[in-house]
Amino acid sequence: MAGLFAITSMLGATCIQDSPPFAQAANTLLEEKSDDTEFDAADLKFFRDEIEPVLKESCHRCHGEKKQESNLRLDSREALLKGGKNGPTIVPGKPDESLLLKVLEYTGDIQMPPDEKLDDETRDAMKKWIEKKAPWPKVKAKQ
Ligand code: HEC
Repeated sequence: MAGLFAITSMLGATCIQDSPPFAQAANTLLEEKSDDTEFDAADLKFFRDEIEPVLKESCHRCHGEKKQESNLRLDSREALLKGGKNGPTIVPGKPDESLLLKVLEYTGDIQMPPDEKLDDETRDAMKKWIEKKAPWPKVKAKQ
C-alpha cells in the first residue's frame, strides 16, 4: 500500500515537471498496480454481493447514466469519490466523514433513497464497505 502511494505521488510530481521519459516509466508501474489486485477477491465479492445490487436497484435511476440528480453518479468508484454538488460522496476508510452514510441515515436535509430508508442491514453493509476503503473492480480500459 505504502508503495503504491509512493508511486502515485512520484507520478504526480513527474507530470507537473513534465519530463516524459520518467513519466512514462512511472506510468507503466502505476498501470501494473491499477487492476483488481488493489482490493482482494473477498472485498470485491463483498462489493458485488452486498453493495452493487443496492446501488443498481435503489440509486442508479436518479444517479446513473440517464439522470444525475445533484450532479452525482453512483456507477463508478471515481464518480463517488468526486461526488455531487456537496463534494465527495465517500471518503474511503472513513464512514463518519462520508456523505453517503449521512444521506442513508436520514439524519440531515438530504435523505436517500427519497422514497424509503434502506434497512439497517443494508446501511450496515454500506458502512463496512467504506471501512474497507470502498472496493470496486477496476475497468481495464486503456487509451
Ligand atoms: C428518485 C430519485 C432519487 C433516487 C432513487 C436517489 N436519489 Fe440521491 N438525490 C436525488 C435528488 C433529487 C438529490 C438532490 C437532493 C437535494 O439537493 O436536496 C439527491 C442527492 C443525493 C446526494 C447528495 C449529493 C450531493 O453532493 O449533493 C447523495 C449522496 C445521494 N443523493 C445518494 C443517493 C443514494 C446512495 C441513493 C440510493 C440508495 C440515491 N441517492 C437514490 C434523487 C434521488
